[in-house]
Amino acid sequence: MKGLILSGGKGTRMRPITHTAAKQLLPVANKPILFYGIEALKSAGIKEIAIIISPETGNDVRIAVGDGSRWGIRIEYILQDEPLGLAHAVKTARPFLGEDPFVMYLGDNLIKDGVGPLVTRFEEGHADAFILLKEVANPSSFGVAQLNEDGSRILCLEEKPANPKSNLALVGVYLFNKNIHTAIDQIKPSKRGELEITDAIQQLISTGHHVDSHILQSWWLDTGKKDDMLEANRVVLDEMTDVSMLGTTDSGSRISGRVHIGKGSILKNCTVRGPAMIGEDCILEDSYVGPFTSIGDGARVTHAEIEHCILREHCQIIDFHGRIEDSLIGVNVELKRSNSKPIAFRLMIGDDSKVEVV
Ligand code: DAU
Repeated sequence: MKGLILSGGKGTRMRPITHTAAKQLLPVANKPILFYGIEALKSAGIKEIAIIISPETGNDVRIAVGDGSRWGIRIEYILQDEPLGLAHAVKTARPFLGEDPFVMYLGDNLIKDGVGPLVTRFEEGHADAFILLKEVANPSSFGVAQLNEDGSRILCLEEKPANPKSNLALVGVYLFNKNIHTAIDQIKPSKRGELEITDAIQQLISTGHHVDSHILQSWWLDTGKKDDMLEANRVVLDEMTDVSMLGTTDSGSRISGRVHIGKGSILKNCTVRGPAMIGEDCILEDSYVGPFTSIGDGARVTHAEIEHCILREHCQIIDFHGRIEDSLIGVNVELKRSNSKPIAFRLMIGDDSKVEVV
């Protein structure tokens, strides 16, 4: 069994953050989303993994992930020149995949339960493809499956239908045998101009192949937009058990709940309520950090209240004297209160940024 992780695409829904970074490298609980997928495949015993990359962000992905040795596996990279769809990515990876069965994992997805049991079920069964489904409130944002009455058979699959036939979304983790390649060769690009993997799986069904499915009961997160990222951060921090206090706090600081503080970080006169994660070499003074917040390495926060936020590496929130919630703050961003006259907001905000002020 091989692993194929998709980390190409354009990441348009996460702009401006993705103007400068691959969306799959955005951190959830201070770890790139992509690493969760790699670790899930490794835990399932998969040792040969290829990652689909784009010309724009591929190099960053290579640098962040490396050759896989840190996980004891082999990772190679496959350049997809244009984001022409998930099935196009599989087509591009054909020389790597050969005739082998494989798990395809979308690099911006997170699932709680890992993929080990799914690999075992697929290997022991006779299905040509195995898909995961999850009940969602907004099915038209996803691929959607319609099952028969007792749920034992898939009737049809549609990609982002305007009038979904069910609330069962396709989760971004799929298992295939070699027959998927023939199905991909038989489909045409969709209305949005992409070769859809949903259409290829539908093609398998239409040509009499066996497609098995399983409805996930545990959480699944597709981190396409800012609020999805915050939700992923919330869920992962909520389940975090591995917490250590590796930094220093003074006597004026109060830490409660599950809080991880990284090496070299210094907290003075701060209140931190977990679950929260503070990276390495951060300086926090006279501040409050509330639940479901993660702060990247080298960040500096003074006179600020922060809750339900992702602060990326080396950002600075200085003498803010206000509260920030539900926010994603990028690398090296500076946010500070200034006393210079006239009193005004002075902003340098990149394309596609969103700012809400009171
Ligand atoms: O998240 C689950 C959904 O993922 C499924 O329900 C849909 O059926 C499936 O089509 C897919 O929809 P999205 O619109 O969310 O896919 P997105 O364009 O965000 O791409 C998913 C991942 O694959 C992302 O990490 C980028 C990567 N990608 C995407 C395209 C289009 C590639 O590597 N190459 C591509 O050509």
